[in-house]
Amino acid sequence: MSADFQTPFTQLFGMYYTQDKPHSATHCVLLEIQIPLLVPPMAGVSGGALAAAASNEGGFGYIAAGSYPFFILLTGSYTSRLGYRTPESLLHELDLAKELLQRQDPAAKLPIGVGYFGWELDKDPSKATQMLQSALNSNVQSIWLSFGNDLRPYVEFIRKADAPRETHSRKTLIAIQVSSSAEALTAVNELNADVVIVQGTLLSRHTNLRPQPLTGNESGGHGSSKSPAVRTLLAEVLAALPPGHPPILAAGGLGSGRDIVEIITTHGADGVVMGTRFLATTESLYPEAKKARICEAKAEDTVRSLAFDFARGTTDWPKDIDGRGLRNQSVEDYDTGVDYQRLRAAYDQAVPTKDFNRLEVWAGTGVGHVTKIVSVRVSFHL
Ligand SMILES: Cc1cc2nc3c(=O)[nH]c(=O)nc-3n(C[C@H](O)[C@H](O)[C@H](O)COP(=O)(O)O)c2cc1C
Repeated sequence: MSADFQTPFTQLFGMYYTQDKPHSATHCVLLEIQIPLLVPPMAGVSGGALAAAASNEGGFGYIAAGSYPFFILLTGSYTSRLGYRTPESLLHELDLAKELLQRQDPAAKLPIGVGYFGWELDKDPSKATQMLQSALNSNVQSIWLSFGNDLRPYVEFIRKADAPRETHSRKTLIAIQVSSSAEALTAVNELNADVVIVQGTLLSRHTNLRPQPLTGNESGGHGSSKSPAVRTLLAEVLAALPPGHPPILAAGGLGSGRDIVEIITTHGADGVVMGTRFLATTESLYPEAKKARICEAKAEDTVRSLAFDFARGTTDWPKDIDGRGLRNQSVEDYDTGVDYQRLRAAYDQAVPTKDFNRLEVWAGTGVGHVTKIVSVRVSFHL
């Protein structure tokens, strides 16, 4: 089986992506896609519309499931603000995707995926089961797992659910996002991942008051504060993995066709993940005001910091995870040592007025490639 790599690419991503068969098409074959591009699960951004549009254009899209820690059930507004989903809202997004993908046969594979945070699933095993089962019942083609202390139970759950279906040659492809070669080895050797996403973030600062250098490429949203830039990490991971390893995709600061070609042909990735490029698409669930900020921002406006989670009070992420977003007053306050309570209070005051000089706008260093709000289709052709 082979995908046709010539024709669909010639008009894509600013005409840069005109490669005839990148060096490996394995994950394209696995996911039955033409373009080696995944649009990742992005909490608060990736619903059924964005995921379906990415897949309809020849790439592959994921709905972000997150989970629903009970404090979110108590404070309904958090559900939309933080992008976490209830099982019901996940089903709603899956139904939307089915409609947009015009799936007639409920037994057929649904050519999108759903992405989960491991640390959120850890909070409540029975809710975790419910959330995973929603995706499996919809026959999604892939499940993406990230930011977990131990992803084993979820991998086992998915494989077990798949077992009776394997006679019908059905298998849910498990994609695991990693931020070090040690994590990549675990994903491949112990978890038998079908696809590994290497998320480069470039080392972030650990102390206040120290200016952060901005070089290399860095992921938007959350990532490991210890992970190097994507090209460095990719080289390390490729050197560490055994022969015959699953497809390795690169994520972090990649925003153009030129990036796709370079990362595949020069750096040996099998494909790319682009999140920030799709934040300001019409299908994205990002609020309009955030989309407008994204369209104006350049790489140097982004910063990797713990300030965003401190300000909004989401400090229960696993160790060493921080996030990249647009620099704002919350970051300035955090950097100059404003105490936690004041930072939180200022953030909460900014919620009703949607003051994005206080609220987080996650974005990666590829943000400069996004200059207007367009559909996913147009974004594939710009
Ligand atoms: C707004 C936003 C939300 C994100 N949410 C998630 C998520 O829910 N799960 C996840 O594994 N990664 C998430 N990510 C990270 C992406 O998986 C991916 O690593 C990143 O977008 C790649 O970098 P780029 O944004 O520079 O393209 C998010 C990224 C952004 C920008």
